[in-house]
Amino acid sequence: MPVTQAFQNDPDYTALCCGRSADPYAVYRRLRDEDPVHWSEGFNGFLLTRHADVYSALRDPRLPSGGRLASYMDQLPLTVQQEVQPLREHYATWLVNLDPPDHTRLRTLVSKAFTPRVVEGLRGYIEQTSHALMDTARSTGQIEFVGQFAQALPAKVISKMLGVPPQDSPQFERWSQVISDFTGTGRPRPEMALAAQQAVNAMSQFVKQLTDQRRRQPCDDLLSGLVSVEERGDKLSEHELVGMCVFLLVAGHETTMCLLSNGLLALLQFPEQMQRLRDQPEWMPAAVEEFLRYDSPLQHQVRTAREDLEISGTRIQQGQRVVLLLGAANRDPEQFHEPDRLDIGRTPNHHLAFGLGIHYCIGAPLARLEAQVAFKVLLQRVPNLRLLDPDVRWREHTSMRHPRQLHLALS
Ligand code: HEM
Repeated sequence: MPVTQAFQNDPDYTALCCGRSADPYAVYRRLRDEDPVHWSEGFNGFLLTRHADVYSALRDPRLPSGGRLASYMDQLPLTVQQEVQPLREHYATWLVNLDPPDHTRLRTLVSKAFTPRVVEGLRGYIEQTSHALMDTARSTGQIEFVGQFAQALPAKVISKMLGVPPQDSPQFERWSQVISDFTGTGRPRPEMALAAQQAVNAMSQFVKQLTDQRRRQPCDDLLSGLVSVEERGDKLSEHELVGMCVFLLVAGHETTMCLLSNGLLALLQFPEQMQRLRDQPEWMPAAVEEFLRYDSPLQHQVRTAREDLEISGTRIQQGQRVVLLLGAANRDPEQFHEPDRLDIGRTPNHHLAFGLGIHYCIGAPLARLEAQVAFKVLLQRVPNLRLLDPDVRWREHTSMRHPRQLHLALS
């Protein structure tokens, strides 16, 4: 049987292609072993599953990011494509979808405002907020961890960092989810494109009001920094500024929510590692890297071939989509000893959860800080964490991976 057809008969593979996989790791293993550069109808692209291939592809200038949203949205019916043109134009401002030289210019500007000092300055706020969230939960003796902690903490932190009023966080959390849902179905769905466009419009308006305020009255927040940031006379345009802020709000909290939820679930599944971390809290930074590797928040990133090329013997044609499965690369036994085991002391740990190359995650230091502080507070405050409902359901999304809910007993 041809290899593509053999995979199509595998229900785990079908679930992977439409974002409904509760456990993608068995099918990743099969792909890595049997067809590491695999053409997938479901993703309309080649799936890369080996660490070495994903690593090289992330750094390959022949595989830029610029065309990826166009290549996704071009699959929508023509009438819908016309209707969602503003959504396309908005996405085109996101740093992650730009190629050099535009990417270089914008990344230089945002890096000037998103400094280590700004990130480190949030440590106290992260600690205080983690305790406050635990205080609220402790009064009832249980917590729905994903919503009440893993989502709430990063949403509050990115709001604080940018300068969004705290009462508006729930609103932008809803918009963010609709925006990221659109790109998580393998092939795009018209109704989700229209919903994402509405959310982007509403969020842009909301951000624009805030940026106007900051122009009139700057404060000590990232928004004011982005409004005034300048490099050799160059500044962010109005359109770029709004796009950047919307992207930071979306990128800055959903991914970290995945890290906190998946990290906690991993500790519950490997209780001896949880005990090790309680006994030796100095392992916390390494543990967070291991959470990122073991169950990566973003399972894939897409690129589009700028020219014909070859990856591990397979020909890719110009314009074809290449799906870099970070989650699969991070479980490759060629790179990681016993990859399916959580080992909080794993060194070295060259995971690819934050990507690599020119698009390497700008928010990595913030995500790391949030996770290190949050897990420290959690383990200190709750000596006996217990999952109340072991039937874990996962979000339907091809890339963003996290359990929908985790009900925990705190006593
Ligand atoms: C655990 C949390 C996070 C994970 C796993 C994550 C993952 C990633 C990945 C894989 C990329 C590269 C995308 C690509 O190569 O196409 C990326 C880029 C990016 N991330 Fe994150 N991220 C996280 C948190 C954050 C946070 C907290 C922020 C901001 C507050 C952020 C902002 C960005 C930005 C601006 C980029 C684009 C960089 C560029 O294109 O030059 N991320 N992230």
